Amino acid sequence: MKITRTPKSRIDSVDFSNLTFGQNFADHMFVCQYKNGAWQEGEIMPYGKVNLSYSLHALHYGQAAFEGMKAYRKADGKVSVFRPLDNFRRLNISGERLLMPQIPEDIFMEGLMALLKLDEEWVPKSADHSLYIRPFIFSSSEFIAARPSEDYTFVILTSPVGPYYPGSVKVKIEDKFTRATSGGIGFTKAAGNYGGAFYPTHKAIEEGFKQVIWTDHKEHKYIEESGTMNIMVRIGDSLLTPPLSDRILAGITRDSILKLCRDWNLDVQERLISVDELVSAARDGSLKEAFGMGTAAVVSTIDGIGYKNEIFTVPTPKDGFAMKIKKGLTEIRTGLAEDKFSWMHNI
Ligand code: COI
Repeated sequence: MKITRTPKSRIDSVDFSNLTFGQNFADHMFVCQYKNGAWQEGEIMPYGKVNLSYSLHALHYGQAAFEGMKAYRKADGKVSVFRPLDNFRRLNISGERLLMPQIPEDIFMEGLMALLKLDEEWVPKSADHSLYIRPFIFSSSEFIAARPSEDYTFVILTSPVGPYYPGSVKVKIEDKFTRATSGGIGFTKAAGNYGGAFYPTHKAIEEGFKQVIWTDHKEHKYIEESGTMNIMVRIGDSLLTPPLSDRILAGITRDSILKLCRDWNLDVQERLISVDELVSAARDGSLKEAFGMGTAAVVSTIDGIGYKNEIFTVPTPKDGFAMKIKKGLTEIRTGLAEDKFSWMHNI
């Protein structure tokens, strides 16, 4: 692999005590091109602008997908990545649905590890901070015929981050717009899934919310996701999350939380949750907690839910399940608790 180092690190220009999500990028990036039906040799180069044409296929037809994962600084100072092979597999699941070439595991993992070793100093040292890793693939032929691209580019960027949403969020149950439909691409991390969500989210923000709870495309009767995250609610002492389908992203944080909760012998269920059930539970006080689960925010507690013209307050107990889960995950990631599921991948 060709490695071109930056002549001068930018690390001293970044305020690690005041990081806005996704605004700062580490010194280097990994880039690998797919041309003439084959992946070329990957390359690490200084993070920066590249020369691309305005006829770039991805800009017109959106053949593009991304991943999000994190590297953590452990208590002993070493750096470890959380479940990178699961992100690798999911990127290829997205790629298959979008008719993009499968990325070989060695290109993904060797590129990732070499990049992290080079930019290891960029992994933050303070609690609740990490290095967010953004692998992505996009169609990079330069033509505007509406057919699949022939060339693709796979890139890995990294970005030091702090907490995603400081505090809890108020969300609106979306009963008009739809994030995903059956037979569609909702289960992928296609770029367009996120682009299509901005307008409904913007509308919800105008109404005083921070995010939306997505509901099913047919009847808006069942809850599916929350913002860019999977959702979990606690009704009584049961933790509930919608079952996976082709409309729901198979979140790696979601899967980790399910495994952790089952290991703790909590009552966790993957089942349909109707809006009616959620609203009744909010009304009668049996809705004890609600939170989003995703790589970026990890666990994002919900303190209010809006539906039609009503707003329901949701408790956010300091000693609740959401906080216990967040702490449990953090302890595994920082090496303070046993990694019994072998989730951590040391660099
Ligand atoms: C996540 O919640 O991990 C995401 O996918 C958020 C990302 C779009 C910033």
